[in-house]
Amino acid sequence: MTQSLEQFIYLDNAATTWPKPTAVTEAMADFMAHSAGSPARGSHRLALAAGRAISGCRSEVATFLGAKDPSRLVFTLNTTDSLNLAIKGILKPGDHVVTSSIEHNSVTRPLHALGNRMGITTDYVPVSVDGYLDPEDFRRMTTPKTRLFVLSHASNVTGAVMPVAEVGRIARSLGIPLLVDGAQTVGLLPTNLDDWPVDLLAFPGHKSLLGPPGTGGLYVSSDIDLDTVREGGTGTQSELQDQPSRCPERHESGTPNTVGLAGLRAGVSYLRREGLDRVYQHEMKLAGRLAEGLKLLGPRVRLYLPRPELHGAPIVLFNIKDADPGQVSFALDRSYGVASRGGLHCAPSTHRVLGTISQGGAVRFSPGVFTTEEQVDGAVRAVWDLAKQI
Ligand SMILES: Cc1ncc(COP(=O)(O)O)c(C=O)c1O
Repeated sequence: MTQSLEQFIYLDNAATTWPKPTAVTEAMADFMAHSAGSPARGSHRLALAAGRAISGCRSEVATFLGAKDPSRLVFTLNTTDSLNLAIKGILKPGDHVVTSSIEHNSVTRPLHALGNRMGITTDYVPVSVDGYLDPEDFRRMTTPKTRLFVLSHASNVTGAVMPVAEVGRIARSLGIPLLVDGAQTVGLLPTNLDDWPVDLLAFPGHKSLLGPPGTGGLYVSSDIDLDTVREGGTGTQSELQDQPSRCPERHESGTPNTVGLAGLRAGVSYLRREGLDRVYQHEMKLAGRLAEGLKLLGPRVRLYLPRPELHGAPIVLFNIKDADPGQVSFALDRSYGVASRGGLHCAPSTHRVLGTISQGGAVRFSPGVFTTEEQVDGAVRAVWDLAKQI
């Protein structure tokens, strides 16, 4: 059994990236030592330093996303928090939503809850087993009550990339806002909010942007007026009973995750220095190497790959014969020191599409910026060895 993390092969970057660049942990330690006051609350030096750290992070992330106005960027806890804010902030009783059949529970559960609570209805555009979605289906499923389109930019189960720009153009032509779940793509694929037909973008700080857990954001275009889902102290307009109307403080009540945002800023600058394209090519090359390596293992290993032209996120999904994917993932960790994610990946509908639901899902490998070819080859050898015993 491998005990040391030095030898550990971490292939669960689609859940959260690990390790983080040293600059991220250094920035967080520095923030705690020199800047950890309460931002926008008080005028002493630590409060001001914390305020500068947050606005610095907001500008850094906004520039990275191509958002002209940083004030339209709301910091949240994670993608789930952002999706909840967007979905619950926009929908009213009786509204209708169109989304896809490969969404994460962080989209489908809020929609389901609102269905029970206030009669929201949802239709699901089908995605084929090899990752194809016809953007025109969004138009076809629109009704006079449709108030929102929601679409993942990439499946967290297969890495298939969805046609968000085309769906966004259809949404614009119909006057319906599009909410994109960028959990698997922000920090990986170029995002230019300035000329992307996207009104709301939910994203994590802790995945490809290389920030720490507990960070995320929601971009809200200036045409969208979101209701609050949480009210409270913002440090501004405190004399009013009403929540301030200005973004971002309208949606950022309470003391924020300042130390996390200091780390996120360092993660984004690391990514900018390294070059998004270079990092992307590295991760996709490793995903290709994993897929090729697993294919060589023959019929013992079943791969679930999207069409090559749609395979845009570095995710490789497989099963070893009919073995339980949770047990395979457990054995990979305990016996070989390989971290994977087994099960349904919080996206049961995608596993329904793939036909893997009755097996309990599948095993997911997802390389990251610090993964090496040797590690990928080590993971393939581990699967090979395990497959011989099953
Ligand atoms: C497609 C997708 N949406 C949403 C989420 C939720 O992300 P978070 O953990 O940042 O809330 C994930 C997490 O893996 C995801 O892959």
